[in-house]
Amino acid sequence: MNRSDALVLVNARHPYAGALPLGELCPVGRGVFLRREAAGALAALLEEIGAGGRILPVSGWRSGAEQRALWEGSLAANGPAFTQSYVARPGCSEHQTGLAIDVALAAEHIDFIRPDFPYEGICGAFRARAAAHGFVLRYPAGKENITGIAHEPWHFRYVGAPHAERMAAAGLCLEEYLHER
Ligand code: DAL
Ligand code: ZN
Repeated sequence: MNRSDALVLVNARHPYAGALPLGELCPVGRGVFLRREAAGALAALLEEIGAGGRILPVSGWRSGAEQRALWEGSLAANGPAFTQSYVARPGCSEHQTGLAIDVALAAEHIDFIRPDFPYEGICGAFRARAAAHGFVLRYPAGKENITGIAHEPWHFRYVGAPHAERMAAAGLCLEEYLHER
C-alpha cells in the first residue's frame, strides 16, 4: 500500500472508487478483516497496551453489498435520522477501503452500529496510543458538519503514523487535513 492509499478520503461527496485487492485483507478478529498494514498496526497497538481481549474489533472491511444491507436494515429499524448520522451511504463508507475499524469494550452484548468504547480505562489507553500506531478517531465531536457523520467514539481510521500524529496534534479531521470537504 502506498502513502496516498492510506490517506484515501471516503465520504458522502467522495465515494470509494478504489478496487481493494481482497488478498490484502488480514483477519483481526472473528470475521473481521483489515488491510495488511492496518491489521498489523492494530495488533501492535493492542499488544502495546496489553488489551488482552478486553477490546474487540467489531467491524472492519465491508463489501459494498454489506454496506448497502447495513444502510437498508438501519433505515427500516432505526429510521433516516439515525441512519444518516451513523451509517455511511452504500459506496461512501470508508469501511469499504479496509482501513477503518470499529472497536468495542468486550461485553456480552455489543451493538454493531454503535459499539460502546469509553474514554477511560483500557479504551482510554487505546486512544492515547492510537495515533502513534497510525489510527485517528475519524468522526470526532465538533466536526459533524465537516465529516457529515455524528460523533463515533468507536470508529478509528488507519492513515499511517506520521499523518495520524499530525492530525491528532493539530486537531484536524481527515477532510481538514486533506483540505477537502
Ligand atoms: N459508521 C460509518 C460512518 C460507516 O458506516 O462507514
Ligand atoms: Zn465504523
